[in-house]
Amino acid sequence: MDGTLSQNDLSHVVDADRAHVWHHLIQHKPFETGEPRVIIEGRGMRVWDQNGKEFLDAVSGGVWTVNVGYGRESIANAVRDQLIKLNYFAGSAGSVPGALFSEKLISKMPGMSRVYFTNSGSEANEKAFKMIRQIAHKRHGGKKTKILYRDRDYHGGTIATMSAGGQDERNIQYGPFVPDFIRVPHCMEYRAQEGWNPESESYGEWAANQIEEVILREGPDTVGGLCLEPVTAGGGVITPPEGYWQRVQEICRKYDVLLHIDEVVCGVGRTGTHWFGYQHYGIEPDFVTMAKGVASGYAAIACCVTTERVFEMFKDDADDPLNYFRDISTFGGCTAGPAAALENMRIIEDEGLLENTTAMGDRMMGNLQALMEKHRVVGDVRGKGLFLGAELVADRATKEPVSEKQVAQVLAECGAQGVIIGSTNRSVRGFNNTLYFSPALIATPDDIDEITEAVDKALTKVFG
Ligand SMILES: Cc1ncc(COP(=O)(O)O)c(C=O)c1O
Repeated sequence: MDGTLSQNDLSHVVDADRAHVWHHLIQHKPFETGEPRVIIEGRGMRVWDQNGKEFLDAVSGGVWTVNVGYGRESIANAVRDQLIKLNYFAGSAGSVPGALFSEKLISKMPGMSRVYFTNSGSEANEKAFKMIRQIAHKRHGGKKTKILYRDRDYHGGTIATMSAGGQDERNIQYGPFVPDFIRVPHCMEYRAQEGWNPESESYGEWAANQIEEVILREGPDTVGGLCLEPVTAGGGVITPPEGYWQRVQEICRKYDVLLHIDEVVCGVGRTGTHWFGYQHYGIEPDFVTMAKGVASGYAAIACCVTTERVFEMFKDDADDPLNYFRDISTFGGCTAGPAAALENMRIIEDEGLLENTTAMGDRMMGNLQALMEKHRVVGDVRGKGLFLGAELVADRATKEPVSEKQVAQVLAECGAQGVIIGSTNRSVRGFNNTLYFSPALIATPDDIDEITEAVDKALTKVFG
């Protein structure tokens, strides 16, 4: 860590943080006696805290974001140059990086054509919800306003996105929620739901068929959209079972339901080989939303991407004063976002990071499977590319989850060894028992091994 801040400066920073900053997703009582963690610097996959302690970051900034790693001067320069030239103009006008980034992004998304800029994953998802609702009013006589979402999925922290939130513990005390968001069952085979008969169909087909059941129950003329994560993130790193997506697509076509894929976590390389998670499964979405990895956290940017067919519905009746997308996103007009995002994509291409993600993801999956053989507490390992999870269970036969306290101990033991990993957190009550890993796409074999060795030692320490 460089020495631009003295120890005195740093203790002032920690005091100021403790006195005035309200951190996300954390109980602050322990900070009355202990220190909050303040991250001072990052390089590649390493970060340093206020005490100069070095960590290997296995979660890309905590929430799957810093995909190309820390300290990228070329992104900083692209942002700096752009800010000096033009930092902002509202989205009613275009910008140079906005146009060039959109062109580049769409070149990686066959079938898609329009990019709507905004500033967070939640907001990008709300744009898709608003578009679906507007289509329902304009095209379907005010019917088809219902939007389906899935148990265990997450789409953001605003009240509307929480209304589409499948993580019950996260939603507690934040209701009442917005009407016409309807839940469908999850697709996690490891915790297959009641009613599935393995003799008659695969779990993937069964779970998808449950969506059809919900559409039929609600009435197909009332259902306008279906919002799903390609691989569920915070709900337990749930990879879809064989046959799931094909059937989901058929159902959407059959009932004229617009398919919205939330790529906020999976998007822009995280799952390897392809730019987006949905591209592994042959899906043809109507909306794709993305945020975290779009500019790897170098600037705030999120996008709601649609097809020309959807876009056309907002311009084909120019005599109607309401027939355009009447939405405002002030910070969607910040040019730093697309400037950073363009350079982020260049790095991913020039450094072969989609291929690296696949290779390192395979290595990490192999390491996690070896841990599963060694430690009975690892009940299941799942993932795609550098987006992986290990579910911890007290008993493999009953699949009873380990306690949250034990999960926290595993994280603390990894931290003590200088490796930051994550876990599902206040997500599904009783099931916050999945460790998650999302190293930057630049990870090397040594980085991957260092992460899983730390987990190995931590599991031995906590569970014997
Ligand atoms: C799948 C998914 N969608 C949406 C969001 C919300 O993104 P943001 O926090 O940028 O609003 C998240 C955040 O974790 C997410 O995991």
